[in-house]
Amino acid sequence: MSTTDQGRVAAVVIMAAGAGTRMKSATAKVLHPLAGRSMLSYAVDAAGALEPEHLVVVVGHQREQVEAHLAEIAPQVLTAVQEQLRGTGDAVRSGLAGLDQLTGQVVVTSGDVPLLTGETLRGLVEVHRGEGNAVTVLTTIAPDPTGYGRVVREGGEVVRIVEQRDATPAEQAITEINAGIYVFDAPVLQAGIANLSDANAQGELYLTDVIGFARSLGRRVGGSVLADSMQAEGVNDRIQLAALNAELNRRILFRWMAEGVTVIDPATTWVHDSVDLAPDVTLLPGTSLEGATSIAGGAVIGPDTTLVDVEVDEGAHVVRSHATLAVIGPNAQVGPFSYLRPGTRLGVKGKIGAFVECKNADIGDGAKVPHLTYCGDATVGAGANIGAGTIFANYDGVTKSHTTIGKASFIGSDTVLVAPVEVADGAYVAAGSTVTAPVGPGELAVARAAQRNIGGWVARKRAGTTTAAAAEAALRVANAESIESQEDSQ
Ligand code: UD1
Ligand code: CA
Repeated sequence: MSTTDQGRVAAVVIMAAGAGTRMKSATAKVLHPLAGRSMLSYAVDAAGALEPEHLVVVVGHQREQVEAHLAEIAPQVLTAVQEQLRGTGDAVRSGLAGLDQLTGQVVVTSGDVPLLTGETLRGLVEVHRGEGNAVTVLTTIAPDPTGYGRVVREGGEVVRIVEQRDATPAEQAITEINAGIYVFDAPVLQAGIANLSDANAQGELYLTDVIGFARSLGRRVGGSVLADSMQAEGVNDRIQLAALNAELNRRILFRWMAEGVTVIDPATTWVHDSVDLAPDVTLLPGTSLEGATSIAGGAVIGPDTTLVDVEVDEGAHVVRSHATLAVIGPNAQVGPFSYLRPGTRLGVKGKIGAFVECKNADIGDGAKVPHLTYCGDATVGAGANIGAGTIFANYDGVTKSHTTIGKASFIGSDTVLVAPVEVADGAYVAAGSTVTAPVGPGELAVARAAQRNIGGWVARKRAGTTTAAAAEAALRVANAESIESQEDSQ
């Protein structure tokens, strides 16, 4: 029987009101990111895969932050406020308070279980329907079950879940634990949560006590064991956050490797969930790909490169560089040690080299900015060459201005281009120039003081130094040679 055979589930309730004290953070626990997006966004996605009639997130602690985040990432999701954190039973009661009498099933999950997939939830709903349960609990076998609720079974059925603090030593020895994810028959859940008591070690209203209620009605409670136990792991502190982030990253990389991407060192390669990679991309160690980054086939990224919202086309190489909101053309080369800021576009076979910073710069096909340059607010024509140490002086302290360099033009080393200024197609600028006026096609601009040599200066002003001695020796040789050549010509 499939999920669709019996229609959509009535509701998914995502519990996310808890205080998250162990995170020690000004940011709500469920808003901490893994692979580039919030823990809560994964829970919302997994729940959304069920296409429930209602999707409710229960908020409480730091709820303004959580509500604002949900409004941004999932405006269709309902929120329900749990005024006092009286336990998971109270959380679900709060979640359902705004909904009418429900029929069918209600799925309950947590906002802090980021690896759980929609597929696992669909499977749990199928088990629930297939076994005709009133409650189905997702469980796993934990090598160290400390802190979790233990699943007590009799003849295969789940009879009860007992919390760590309420458990007898025999119960504490049980390694099957409650993942905190459930499917309930809606009427049983609605009646059950109205009947909860806080007579337990924590003085809380335990959602798990609905199990006893269901059994008192003569209904069956099942437990479905999840083999992939990482999917059931929750985040309570930053150590677990790091561990699950690494596991999620590993899963993302495994998915890309299966699609034909080479990852030399998965342990030091970080790829956000939102990134798109083509077959035959190679990622070298220390690479971090974030946001809306996409890499086309044959491109090689790294080592030690961070790309945020960057598009890299076929066959490009990006070595030891940092780029944000840039487009790197087919077979282009970037790095090592390049800094590409927003609005950088590099054409086909273009080059941005060592210690070059670009911003708002359109660098044409085959154009080269190979060394030690700041290239801001610029258009560089196809095939142009920008000499080492060139500075595009785009800012006068008040406004930013644009520089245009024409096709196949040549800018000599150590040039300052004072914007706004234009160098036409096929022009040259002499090394060391400060260009403040336009340069026409085919012209050579020389904008620097003419060279003047003052003879005998070292002997007069630096007498007695090693420099003066070297000059004297060189002059002696030069004189002797000129006498010889005079004799030869006689
Ligand atoms: C609960 C289960 C336990 C299970 C564990 C799995 C109960 C009584 N116990 O433990 O069997 O092994 O989850 O992680 O249900 N929350 C609220 N409001 C509250 C309390 C909790 O929204 O008043 C939310 C939390 O934000 C979290 C989730 O419910 O997302 C679980 O809460 P947590 O305190 O971590 O779980 P326990 O109650 O310790
Ligand atoms: Ca608790």
